[in-house]
Amino acid sequence: TYTYIIFNSSRKINDVQVLTVATDENHGLERFLRSAKVYGIDVEVLGKGTKWTGGDMNLPGGGQKINLLKEKLTELSKSGKKEKIILFTDSYDVLFLASIDDILKKFQSFPDTRVLFAAEQFCWPDTKLASQYPNIEVANPYLNSGGFIGYLPEILEIVNYKPVSDKDDDQLYYTKIYLDKNLRESLKIKLDHNSAIFQNLNGALSDVQLKSNTSTEIWPYIENVVTKQRPLIVHGNGPSKLTLNHFGNYLAKAWSSTEGCAMCNEKRIELKDDKLPTVMMAVFIEQATPFLEEFLDQVLTTDYPKDKIHLLLRNNVEYHETEVDDFFQAHAKEYATAKRIKPSDFISESEARNIAKDRCINSACDYLFSIDSLSRLEANTLRHLLSSGYDVIAPLLVRPGLAWSNFWGAVNSAGFYARSSDYMDIVYQNIKGVWNVPFITNCYLAKMSLFRLPATKTVTYTREGIDPDMAFCASLREVGVYMYVSNELDFGHLVNPETYDISRTNPDMYQLFDNKMEWTTRYLHEEYHLNFDEERKHLMPCPDVYWFPLMSKRFCSEWIEIMEAFGQWSDGSNNDKRLESGYEAVPTRDIHMNQVGLERHWLHILKEYVRPLQEMVFTGYYHNPPVSVMNFVVRYRPDEQPSLRPHHDSSTYTINLALNTPNVDFEGGGCRFIRYNCSVRDTKLGWLLMHPGRLTHYHEGLLVTKGTRYIMISFVDP
Ligand code: UDX
Repeated sequence: TYTYIIFNSSRKINDVQVLTVATDENHGLERFLRSAKVYGIDVEVLGKGTKWTGGDMNLPGGGQKINLLKEKLTELSKSGKKEKIILFTDSYDVLFLASIDDILKKFQSFPDTRVLFAAEQFCWPDTKLASQYPNIEVANPYLNSGGFIGYLPEILEIVNYKPVSDKDDDQLYYTKIYLDKNLRESLKIKLDHNSAIFQNLNGALSDVQLKSNTSTEIWPYIENVVTKQRPLIVHGNGPSKLTLNHFGNYLAKAWSSTEGCAMCNEKRIELKDDKLPTVMMAVFIEQATPFLEEFLDQVLTTDYPKDKIHLLLRNNVEYHETEVDDFFQAHAKEYATAKRIKPSDFISESEARNIAKDRCINSACDYLFSIDSLSRLEANTLRHLLSSGYDVIAPLLVRPGLAWSNFWGAVNSAGFYARSSDYMDIVYQNIKGVWNVPFITNCYLAKMSLFRLPATKTVTYTREGIDPDMAFCASLREVGVYMYVSNELDFGHLVNPETYDISRTNPDMYQLFDNKMEWTTRYLHEEYHLNFDEERKHLMPCPDVYWFPLMSKRFCSEWIEIMEAFGQWSDGSNNDKRLESGYEAVPTRDIHMNQVGLERHWLHILKEYVRPLQEMVFTGYYHNPPVSVMNFVVRYRPDEQPSLRPHHDSSTYTINLALNTPNVDFEGGGCRFIRYNCSVRDTKLGWLLMHPGRLTHYHEGLLVTKGTRYIMISFVDP
């Protein structure tokens, strides 16, 4: 046993024994013991490793706690120290917020008190007893059995008062003793109505404020704003456990705005290259996913040896099947093992996720790393999560620029999303750390030894009427497994599938607005940013005709594919129903961007990527956003329209983007500026020609003699 010798103000020596009950070693106990350690409190855990026979704690029960305590106190009483003080608390949902010295001082400031019980706002489990309380005109009228402190003889008398079965309710047992006037007075039992020591959270959420960022204190604390107390022990009794989990992210010196995140490093493990854990990487493609190709690349380039990875690749989207199949055929053999689940297997999402989990549980697999195709990860994410030491942990992933992420800070009573007070701060990384949260999704690591315990056998992805990830997290919450999200580093982001329309040709091209990061990486010219280098000498193949790398090779080929799939090229006549006037003086064979749903996208490209180029070279002209009513792809080929007669464009400036390559895709072609007798024939794929419109740059489209030439044209600011 652990004994403390404390000198209180009257210099009387006190002998304190701190006791709790925990039959199982779980995350709640771990957090409780951590808080004890932080405040230098040694706790003796009773009942460790024994079977819990105290019933379902959502219902009356818990008598076992009394019986375990009785046994212990009987043993202690034999030591003969009458003035020994006993502090007893629950363990799974309790945190110490102060040293034993402070707790004792507070206890001894209660006049004429030999035993002090925690108090709460509900008369539980028997509400009928409420009327028997001597005083209910107080903040917390009713006894709570999750915490009490008092002298050994009195507490011994209480626990020995009458036999109690393990299944009986401990709170009811203590309540009846308290409500017995004779016992209450003779044993000097009081309730901590103001939460001077014990703060129960159930029913008290509006009374209790978490102060996590004060200029006067280093460490966060809680204050009961009704009673003006700063409680020394906090208890997430009954349904308030998730609130305690939230508080636990800050309290007991877990995190501070000045000291940072203590919890980030306390469990850290060093990964040794020769002893790396085995991971099942379970990849889920449950919905049509923008930029899947890049996602599969990321799976492949995860910074972890493939012989330590068991790959499970689940695709449930027929549209992606060829691509996924190609990936699997090419790379399966690189992994320790590889399995796939195809759309044709007709396996539901929850079944597929259960299969992954169960395969991992039943094999030599240390961790399950579950990744949905919506998540985009930095290559080192897996290693970071493994080394965090947390059993279930997600990397924070957010849709860029939005508040949408892969975790919830809180859940409401129906189990759905609720926003926690710190949600935005975590999402925006205003505060950084590892955060105990009630829901994670899209990407997380789970330690499998935890899932092999009897206590977690009910964890499942299948539950009537709710999504698999909600079912999973609800079942984790029910068995008391804590889920964390880490935002210590930038781990990646989420793609947004909401407007992804696979009925389109090359649907990723349409994702400029919703998945701009992926879009620009794939479609912007890799040298685009070099245009803005200070030393840069811009190419000018003809007077005042500038030449810039703008779009990638991939952009050009996909753009052409979209036009050809649409196929409704204009007929090259002067009559053009697409125009307001119905008349085109210098007709080409073309397709307008509004015909293929890309007008808005192209105008955005003009504003974001073309306008800055214009402002750089034709200085002094600012027009934001650029206006352009004519945005179209022109097709020149010998058997159709092979060239275009000299003309002026009705624009302030014109841009002409080469979508394919001379002498490869076609012969001939190019643009001749007549006033300067200067031609650009060797146009470059993805490069943009930019020249003034009216007056000076009278020009013609040169004859294409073989193949097909495609260019993308805009008349900017007509
Ligand atoms: C509330 C009261 O505060 C508590 O005193 C009473 O026993 C039941 O109702 P609550 O927070 O809802 O408690 O219960 P919970 O924390 O789930 O269980 C009480 C304590 O019993 C745990 O904290 C733990 O110390 C112990 N326990 C419970 C075990 O040791 N093993 C179990 O399997 C369950």
